[in-house]
Order: sequence, then structure tokens, then C-alpha cells
Amino acid sequence: MDLKSKFGGAQRWHWLEMPKITDVRGNLSVVEGNTHVPFKIERVYYIYDVPSGSIRAGHAHKALWQLFLALSGSFTLHLEDGLNKESLTLNRPHRGLLVEPGVWRVIDDFSGGGVCLVLASMPYDAADYIRSYEEFVWYAKGMNGVS
Ligand code: TYD
Repeated sequence: MDLKSKFGGAQRWHWLEMPKITDVRGNLSVVEGNTHVPFKIERVYYIYDVPSGSIRAGHAHKALWQLFLALSGSFTLHLEDGLNKESLTLNRPHRGLLVEPGVWRVIDDFSGGGVCLVLASMPYDAADYIRSYEEFVWYAKGMNGVS
């Protein structure tokens, strides 16, 4: 089954629970591409040592799928797609947020020691970014069929 077809509906972001193998020696979680996330993992990056009050991201992607995980501590993702708007706090290493293309995202409110891990469906491509909010609003109207 094409996992993307499981998503790709009206909602462009989804909580995804990763397997959690609890153990007295410490817990272990795993993410396999095309199994636990609906894409082949082509890139991994992480944001850490974030000074208090920092604001990250502030852009959307045209084709990129991403899974966000709070490996340590917490942070808040503010998401909007021209139809829906939501602010979600990530604070569990096994509970990821899948974000489809076409979503404006801002990340803030990092806790001390907060680490944001991002698994991505494509290598870094500056051309996939929409970095202007005004451009995103225009883009989202087309994407949502709203004139
Ligand atoms: P940027 O996209 O501004 O980070 P944020 O998600 O907070 O907006 O990226 C910061 C810098 O890192 C920018 O110069 C591009 C570079 N970068 C890469 O080289 N590869 C990557 O995979 C990412 C995400 C960023």
C-alpha cells in the first residue's frame, strides 16, 4: 500500500506514534522509512542548543514531507495551510508530527536542552522553499482551490 495515500487528505499534518520498546535499561524508539513514515528518508537534520526565545523555520515546502520529533525537551510547531491553523507542542520522543507539503511552519518555545529531529523525504533543495508568507498565502489559495 502506498502509505502516502493513507494521508494526503484534507488534514496536512498528523500525529504519528513510533514504536516504543520500553526497557529497564532505557527506552528505544525506531523510525523506518516507508513503514513508520509514508516516505523514504532521504535526509536527517536536527536543531539543538537553541537559545531561549529563538524562533526557527518560517517557511513552507512545495514537495517535502517531514516528520518532526522532540528527541529531548520540548518545542512548539505553529502550522497553517490556508484552511487550518494549529499550534502543537512536541514533548515525547516517540510521538512525531508528520507535516505534508504546503504547510507554513514556525517553531518556537524550545525548552532548555530541547532537540528537534527532522526526518525528510528529499535532500536539501533551496528551490523547494517558500520563504515569503505573502507568497505562501497566494500559493495556498491555488493549492486549496480558493480564489
Ligand atoms: P533554515 O532553513 O534557515 O533553518 P530553519 O528550519 O530554522 O528555517 O536553515 C539554516 C541554514 O542551514 C541555511 O543556511 C540552510 C542550511 N541547511 C542545510 O544546509 N541543509 C538542510 O538540510 C537544512 C534544513 C538547512
